[in-house]
Amino acid sequence: MKKIILLGYMGCGKSTIAQKLSGIVSIPYIDLDEYIEKKVKMSIKEIFESQGEIHFRKLEHTYFLELLNSPDEIIIGLGGGTPCYANNHELLIGEGVVSVYLKASIDTLFNRLVANKSKRPLIADKNNEEMKEFIAKHLFDRSFYYNHAQHKVNVDGKTIEETVKDILNLLA
Ligand code: S3P
Repeated sequence: MKKIILLGYMGCGKSTIAQKLSGIVSIPYIDLDEYIEKKVKMSIKEIFESQGEIHFRKLEHTYFLELLNSPDEIIIGLGGGTPCYANNHELLIGEGVVSVYLKASIDTLFNRLVANKSKRPLIADKNNEEMKEFIAKHLFDRSFYYNHAQHKVNVDGKTIEETVKDILNLLA
């Protein structure tokens, strides 16, 4: 069954957009981070702190594959780093998959993340200046992987509804 995959940098709006899309197309939405948290009974923050990022990346790959191989039609919201590890980017173009990169500018991401960083171990301890520089470099490094998605939707300056409409046009 078809999998719709939404990907993009932390703060690009994956969860909110996926939830809205899910309600419209009546396909269940699963957030990969939440799925991992349920499976290992720990928060992402706790996994990073107690077992480290490499262990998290292994879990992320395992559970991404598990969702892709499930028999159900689902919308999967990836973590910001998912496409960039364990060759996960190659899974964005498989059969029965529709992948959409939600592309946001550094400014959009910064503005969204600045108020909402505590649950995100990669940026939680950075001040504003460090965070902006981190996002700029990190986004540059990650773009190679994000660009493997089959489709790209720009989210800058758009409402959730407008972005969802763009995705619906792609799916039509
Ligand atoms: C990460 C993004 C997070 C989460 C983890 C690592 C990343 O997901 O998977 O903190 O490497 O960008 P969100 O993009 O949903 O914040």
